[in-house]
Amino acid sequence: MELIVNRLNRKFTQKEIVARIQKLTKLKLIERHPTSEAYRLRFLGLDCLAIHRLVLKNVLSAFGDKIGEGKESELYQAISTSNSLVAVKFHKIGKEFRNVSKARSYGENLGGSTWVIRSIVSGRREAEALSILNKFDIQGIPKFYGNALHSVVIEYIDGVNLFEVKDLEDPAEIFYQIVDIVKNAYWKAGLVHGDLSEYNVIVDIDNGKSYIIDWPQYITTVDPRALEVLRKDLQHIVSFFKKKFRLDVDLDEVFKYVLEKRQ
Ligand SMILES: Nc1ncnc2c1ncn2[C@@H]1O[C@H](COP(=O)(O)OP(=O)(O)OP(=O)(O)O)[C@@H](O)[C@H]1O
Ligand SMILES: [Mg+2]
Repeated sequence: MELIVNRLNRKFTQKEIVARIQKLTKLKLIERHPTSEAYRLRFLGLDCLAIHRLVLKNVLSAFGDKIGEGKESELYQAISTSNSLVAVKFHKIGKEFRNVSKARSYGENLGGSTWVIRSIVSGRREAEALSILNKFDIQGIPKFYGNALHSVVIEYIDGVNLFEVKDLEDPAEIFYQIVDIVKNAYWKAGLVHGDLSEYNVIVDIDNGKSYIIDWPQYITTVDPRALEVLRKDLQHIVSFFKKKFRLDVDLDEVFKYVLEKRQ
């Protein structure tokens, strides 16, 4: 409380500060320590700070409904200043206890930092990956609009998660689309996804186009683990198409195809 007052006492009276703290607590943007007069940010507060920055950066002009929740994120629909429908992904590392080890690996060199920093690091990593992939104009990657703190703004894809797709007219076509996105990301952008599976692919059924989403765990192709990680990514997709659509493809051949540089 002393810190807060010291930081703000040039702008506000103590009474105003207390009133604002009470309001923020009531709105659940911050929370009070159970026993002492201390406050900390909650994820909702961090989300509001990020939205504020996205507006100041001229990325967003309107904010909409929640569209999804991942293990480590929450997604909302929004409108960009260029009037496109976009998805705002808030990274939330440490939302659940079981994610602590992953949070540690993200925050490795950040010392005793908290979930705030870990979520921001994860958001920045995804923003980095998407801006590189967009720079090389790779098909099947959502367009990147901007980022702030733990948030990333991407093109809204009106489709179905691959793991939920009931029927595909041509499973092989969708399979090779995904493999080609992986191949282009590898050769053009120098990136390997690192967490590829049917959970991170969205298929736009109307135009038959697939997209690979969820990039914070990417590694670069010069990383010593690149080939191992690439093979695992492909393995998840091969197994899924084998099991669900009885597609007869061989992992070794697909791996070789991805690693063959296009002329
Ligand atoms: N650009 C988008 N357009 C529309 N829906 C999206 C978009 N990006 C993500 N989603 C939806 O939100 C869900 C979660 O997104 P994402 O996979 O990026 O987050 P995540 O927290 O890493 O998920 P998980 O850890 O569960 O894989 C996706 O499965 C998808 O349904
Ligand atoms: Mg995901």
